[in-house]
Amino acid sequence: MNILVVGSGGREHALIKALKKNREIETIYALPGNGGMAKDAFCVSIGAKDIENIVKFAVEKAVDFAVVAPDDPLALGAVDALENAGIPSFGPTKAAARIESSKVFAKELMKKYGIPTATYQVFTDPDAAKAYLKTAPLPAVIKADGLALGKGVIIAQTLAEAEAAVSDMMENKVFGDSGSRVVIEEFLEGPEVSVLAFTDGKTVKPMVSSMDHKRALDGDQGLNTGGMGTIAPNPYYTKDVAERCMNEIFLPTVRAMEKEGCPFKGCLYFGLMVTKNGPKVIEYNCRFGDPETQVVLPLLKSDLFTIMRAVRDETLADCPVEFDNGAACCVVMASQGYPQHYEKGFPITLNPDTDEITTYVAGAKLNENGELLTNGGRVLGVTATADSLKAAIEKAYAAVQKTHFENAFYRRDIGQRALNKER
Ligand code: AMP
Ligand code: GLY
Repeated sequence: MNILVVGSGGREHALIKALKKNREIETIYALPGNGGMAKDAFCVSIGAKDIENIVKFAVEKAVDFAVVAPDDPLALGAVDALENAGIPSFGPTKAAARIESSKVFAKELMKKYGIPTATYQVFTDPDAAKAYLKTAPLPAVIKADGLALGKGVIIAQTLAEAEAAVSDMMENKVFGDSGSRVVIEEFLEGPEVSVLAFTDGKTVKPMVSSMDHKRALDGDQGLNTGGMGTIAPNPYYTKDVAERCMNEIFLPTVRAMEKEGCPFKGCLYFGLMVTKNGPKVIEYNCRFGDPETQVVLPLLKSDLFTIMRAVRDETLADCPVEFDNGAACCVVMASQGYPQHYEKGFPITLNPDTDEITTYVAGAKLNENGELLTNGGRVLGVTATADSLKAAIEKAYAAVQKTHFENAFYRRDIGQRALNKER
């Protein structure tokens, strides 16, 4: 069986490694993939947003199944196009992907179906937004409606910052059309939990919970990034919280999407905040998280490909989704300067993978001599699994010590908050 995976980051590397465990799969194509996954997949230089050529390639190679991982192609309708061409695919349709690609759609869905989230207002006119801000409590949370590379959320501590955010998004168009509408919402407090869930539109089966570390520097200082490291499971996601999430958030969301005529099939990512009034939705993503996937999939005991097919065929109710009782930690090694300016092109020395330690490669490429060079902001995700969170963290950092490239930087405190909570 031949399959293809759309995307090029550490998340896609983790997906490919988990898919490879299925014996039926002979060939995996990564479109475009990266040099660091060349041992695990055939990388084909077709961009993740080039839907026309993705479909053409899939048909030419008669691939048996396609997995679309990133938000952009999903929002552009990659799964609709592949399915229309007869390629069974994992991922939501364009209509269902709106749960991530439009914050206004997501907020209106939650309001209509009583799903707990921050209270909010939507604005299409910058002057009206600024007038509202004069009366709104601080900090104010301002979100661009559309996709903005994870940078479309501003938490403004002062009125001046809030007004500047509205000007940037709505008048200066720093996120293009994504900022033509903005959501201004209530600031929530509490620990954050990420839960990825498989759903076939009716049944929902959550994966092990995880915790991202979004800021660039130790102690949650510095700029927001795509994610500097993750741990799983998340100790703030207690049995009680999990039960409330299932009844108040996960099932109601899946039912709501079905009622709206756009059932969600694929991986639905719930970005949650455990507030003193219970769990609330901070955001939905229509895809696997990065770097959440790098800690969740190593703990998956069931076969990923079997689950993905069950999601696509709407038979998830009969398909087991089981996880190890252990823990995992992923430390992202980035290029100094990320998420702003950084240099690339430095040779990488990898720590060899073992059963419990895996390096997922994100921003890297092979040169003509077959050497692996840095080629992005987030370069590697060094991941370890173990019986306990403490042991997983220690193992991941020991592997980081044996991994080298010039200008590497990483956080030293991935998982510390979770460990303190466990204690
Ligand atoms: P997002 O891009 O929606 O994931 O938001 C980025 C980050 O902003 C989240 O991970 C939260 O830490 C924070 N955030 C988003 N919305 C809120 C909110 N309503 N209250 C507090 N923090 C928020
Ligand atoms: N790690 C956050 C995300 O994938 O959106």
